Amino acid sequence: MGFVSKGEVKAGQKPHLNLAFIGHVDHGKSTIVGRVLYETGVISDHDLKDEAGSFKFAWILDRLREERERGVTIDLTHIKFETDKYYYTIVDCPGHRDFVKNMITGTSQADAAVLVVAADDGVMPQTREHAFLARTLGVTQLIVSINKMDLVKWDENRYKEVRDDAERLLKVLGFKTDQIPFIPMAALVSKENVIDGKSDWYDGPTLMEAFDAVTPPEKPVQLPLRIPIQDVYSITGVGTVPVGRVETGVLKVGEKVVFEPAGVSGEVKSIEMHHENITEAEPGDNIGFNVRGVSKKDVRRGDVCGHEDNPPTVVKEFTAQIVVLQHPSAIAPGYTPVFHAHTSQVACRFDQLLQKIDPKSGAVIEENPAYLKTGDAALVKIVPTKPLSIEKAGDIPHMGRFAVRDMGQTVAAGIVKDVVRK
Ligand code: GTP
Ligand code: MG
Repeated sequence: MGFVSKGEVKAGQKPHLNLAFIGHVDHGKSTIVGRVLYETGVISDHDLKDEAGSFKFAWILDRLREERERGVTIDLTHIKFETDKYYYTIVDCPGHRDFVKNMITGTSQADAAVLVVAADDGVMPQTREHAFLARTLGVTQLIVSINKMDLVKWDENRYKEVRDDAERLLKVLGFKTDQIPFIPMAALVSKENVIDGKSDWYDGPTLMEAFDAVTPPEKPVQLPLRIPIQDVYSITGVGTVPVGRVETGVLKVGEKVVFEPAGVSGEVKSIEMHHENITEAEPGDNIGFNVRGVSKKDVRRGDVCGHEDNPPTVVKEFTAQIVVLQHPSAIAPGYTPVFHAHTSQVACRFDQLLQKIDPKSGAVIEENPAYLKTGDAALVKIVPTKPLSIEKAGDIPHMGRFAVRDMGQTVAAGIVKDVVRK
């Protein structure tokens, strides 16, 4: 098949898809994931009782996540299930206040996102925010779940209302809505339209059919190697083992690599994925790799690994296109919030507001605006307070995106247009 790039399907393996669940708090993201895992046999009846003995899909999922976070393991894979066609990894599904922050790394890994909208509440502020971020972060394939249909008595008119609202929102953001399924469901109480058994008035795909209709993106194997480091372990008998997900390029045993901005280099002795040794890792692989010549204290989360002959870019300043998602007052030059790019978090200063831009047409509205408010899009010059490895989105899109966080919320998101190297 045309879309399956080199290395996508290893012998006897199905392609792998990463799915992100996004949407307003409490609209049922975890419950839908729980329903899918239950119906595909990943979790059993036995697993589904909470402390009080009642059924609770979301609870099992939160427990799985907690276990995953506590375990010191170099297997960074998330929750998995499979169909005849694909292996799926559910990227992340937290719904707490820092969800958006997690989404920056989560959704940038996602091949597709499921936007969950509860039928009773309809489109809410976080529905908009998450849809917007998914778009900014490069997710083009979307599935919309209109959940909690039981609460509106499976009323077809209410379904249409919520669907039309969601469709309008997504159209404005530039999604091709005629390719997006809007699937009514009540994941807590039934598998209807999730896995099989369709409602009489609904003739679209089930959630599982929609999953299988997602097109795996080409793996960016031709781009320079970039592995943002999530953690670094020191393992007895092995040595230093940085852990991360290959975003772009290919890593092979025996190669010389460098970590930036740390500026240390070494030779790759071994690569491990899912507790097995492999000789080559490619985009999408969550790996631990042993590097000779590098000690645990040399490298940390936020560093990026690349080949020594094509090292990750370290910037002293960069120009970015941003959109202000929510800010209680205004952003003016001098403002220094925390930027989250891949696995790094660095305070960066808004040095200059260059141009205010119309988010829909891209036309310049104002040169050198004095400040930016919620909803504004702009071209800005950013100066990190310490060295940061980030790339031009035009060169390596996966490494050229960021979120701006302040006061416990995401105030802006953007992409890197140009860099000044350090
Ligand atoms: P956050 O992670 O906190 O953002 O929430 P979430 O989107 O993961 O929602 P979650 O699955 O935790 O569900 C929130 C609440 O809605 C829970 O009490 C669920 O039991 C309930 N719920 C989820 N799906 C349905 C549904 O289809 N029908 C009804 N009636 N309740 C549901
Ligand atoms: Mg949840």
